[in-house]
Amino acid sequence: MKDIFASLKSIASYIPPRCVSNADFEKTLDTSDEWISKRTGIKTRYFATPEQNTSDLAYEAGKLAIERAKLSPNDIDAVIVATLSPEYLTMPSTACIAAYKLGIQNKPAFDISGACSGFIYLLNVAKSFIESRTYDNILIIGAEKVSSVLDFEDRGTCVLFGDGGGAAVVSATTDRSQSILDVHIAANGKYGDLLYTPRFNATSNSPKQYLQMKGNEVFKQAVKTLAQDVKDILEHNAIRPQDVKFFVPHQANLRIINAVGEMLDFSPDQIVLTVQKYGNTSAASIPMAIDEIYKQGKLKNGDLLLLDAFGGGFTWGSALVYFNGENLQ
Ligand code: COA
Repeated sequence: MKDIFASLKSIASYIPPRCVSNADFEKTLDTSDEWISKRTGIKTRYFATPEQNTSDLAYEAGKLAIERAKLSPNDIDAVIVATLSPEYLTMPSTACIAAYKLGIQNKPAFDISGACSGFIYLLNVAKSFIESRTYDNILIIGAEKVSSVLDFEDRGTCVLFGDGGGAAVVSATTDRSQSILDVHIAANGKYGDLLYTPRFNATSNSPKQYLQMKGNEVFKQAVKTLAQDVKDILEHNAIRPQDVKFFVPHQANLRIINAVGEMLDFSPDQIVLTVQKYGNTSAASIPMAIDEIYKQGKLKNGDLLLLDAFGGGFTWGSALVYFNGENLQ
């Protein structure tokens, strides 16, 4: 029997319609375009409309990912969504709602909670399902309406995030040189109180109804952890930074990305940056960034991608992935 490998068959994203600039925040907050740009790199972010929910963002990205994989909804064996802003508190899962909207019924659908590392966690889960021959085609989606958990009076958090959806189809292949080569994920709950959303069982007088973050401490841990994680995955697979076509980091903060990029000696044309446009879209940020280079016609079949992410939990992870999708015509 031939070996089976998981591969990234397609990539897609959905950007919601409401563009909010730093200047827009200047009208309601004690902040400035200069502060936000200098500390984060962010210039704009996009928010969903009040009518749009997380499953709508997931649906839009998921639909395009299925089309680009040249598949129909019937071919999808499972739908898995990563989100920190699910449509309902615990049920139904955003994956159940999105799968139904996509016309995928009577197939497994579930959410995972990996915060901003969600897409790397999804890759690992999908890879395991495929390589254990459980399924052939899995739709994975990072979808976030982070704006629904933001405190728009907290200048330390609300300017950092954006909404969006990013999706991919992961399919079986027999060609290892077209595969998701390696995925590493990890977590340490010790740091849970540095970045979190409201408790499920919060008392009615709980003051913490929104996302809370100790930005400075998150920043330091993120740089340290990611630099090591990325080094480890490259070494483990005997791949040099110059062998990587694109380094696609989680888009949280330009200074975190540059710090990790410089430690690894990546050249500027290897590093994919979308944080200026979209802000931090949590679990959607990596697939949105991959789709950005795909839409620009830069990402080609066979290109090697290095992904990394860090988020609440803390969670983190990295992946080495050969893109196995069709080139954009
Ligand atoms: N506009 C103007 N001033 C702001 C501000 C804003 N939007 N947000 C915070 N400040 C102020 C603070 O109140 C503080 O003022 P003080 O010195 O008078 O107390 C000052 O700026 C410095 O705050 P600090 O938090 O130390 O700044 P920083 O250089 O660490 O930058 C972040 C803040 C949030 C940009 C930065 O810590 C960061 O990006 N952290 C990581 C966040 C992240 O990536 N999280 C998600 C991980 S997935």
